Amino acid sequence: MTKINCIEDQRVRAQKFVPRMFYEYADGGSWAEDTYRANEKDWKKIKFNQKVGVDVGTRETSMNMLGKKLIMPVALSPVGLIGMHRADGEIHAARAAERFGVPFTLSTMSICSLEDVAKNTKEQFWFQLYVMRDREFIGRLIERARNANCSTLVVTVDLPILGNRYKDRNNGLSTPPKMTLKNILNLITKPSWCFEMSKTKRRNFGNVVGHVKGVNDMSSLADWVSSQFDPTLTWDDLAEIRKVWDRKLVIKGILNPEDAESAVSIGADAIVVSNHGGRQLDGAISTVQALCPIVDRVGGRVEVWVDGGIRSGQDILRAIALGANGVMIGRAYLYGLGASGEEGVLQTLNIMLNELDSTMALCGSSNLRDVDKSILCDL
Ligand SMILES: Cc1cc2nc3c(=O)[nH]c(=O)nc-3n(C[C@H](O)[C@H](O)[C@H](O)COP(=O)(O)O)c2cc1C
Repeated sequence: MTKINCIEDQRVRAQKFVPRMFYEYADGGSWAEDTYRANEKDWKKIKFNQKVGVDVGTRETSMNMLGKKLIMPVALSPVGLIGMHRADGEIHAARAAERFGVPFTLSTMSICSLEDVAKNTKEQFWFQLYVMRDREFIGRLIERARNANCSTLVVTVDLPILGNRYKDRNNGLSTPPKMTLKNILNLITKPSWCFEMSKTKRRNFGNVVGHVKGVNDMSSLADWVSSQFDPTLTWDDLAEIRKVWDRKLVIKGILNPEDAESAVSIGADAIVVSNHGGRQLDGAISTVQALCPIVDRVGGRVEVWVDGGIRSGQDILRAIALGANGVMIGRAYLYGLGASGEEGVLQTLNIMLNELDSTMALCGSSNLRDVDKSILCDL
């Protein structure tokens, strides 16, 4: 087996374990995937300013996110269908985050339910909300997040309609996989995944099934989900959510300063500069391009985080140097999970922490809180 040194190694190993349908659900974007690819590429274009002759004998990588001191300023992004990459995947990812000491965000579209994750973890986790048409269901979901002791609600605003993802369409993405000849042939090559999945009962959208009238099986669920994304959602709706959710509120999916300003005006505690990992508006700017104008406009009034294409500790350092207060990671931990479950997610976080720490040393920086644009080259 290949030795794991970096996130790319995790990706390669995950590809071997996870059925194509779910692997490509992760390793893909919308339309031509230009924004998906630009996210990663644009971080790499930013070069570091090597600095020597300074004492970097002790280094501090910790920073606060939402008032909580973290070993590094990273939170796990909400990712749907994690439990299809590994059996009970959300629980494994949440436990790894807990062991490492960073927040885990459970997606609305998770396989394991809110209650299930709460029962199987000790620390508080965050819950991501899609505001769907069925507002009664959304009200109940917020209540369930409160009862599951979630500390933070992350409301995703960049999905008024679902981005067109060709790979998912070609693969006939569904949970569990549809038994087409192509899928059966692929599943034959994934015996370990099949064995793991055969041992769990968690194979459906846990937050939805049994909580929405008339949605009891896969076909009614698929119809419900596709009819539920709400293109009429406005900032007024988000202001209403702010009124009923009295804990920390994060608005995720911001790409321009005006929208960032709106998030501040409804009372968000943090915003995530995000293009949904290049899965929504293809042709949108990469998140690194979007970051600085947003920091300039609302920085200091709200925490500004960024996600999209972050695959290394170097990328974390770049984001902090550009003024972000924290980052979120999606595929980086999903690949770790696909590669080796809970231990794989932990490995992802350790790899990133080590990379962050060493890159700081080589840039002559001993405290992440003091890092600014001076550690980057002005090319
Ligand atoms: C497979 C996959 C599923 C995702 N599902 C969700 C989701 O359910 N809710 C959400 O707000 N964002 C979702 N996202 C977007 C992530 O939260 C995050 O914005 C994105 O993954 C960041 O980019 P990165 O994967 O390059 O780190 C998903 C992303 C991926 C890759």
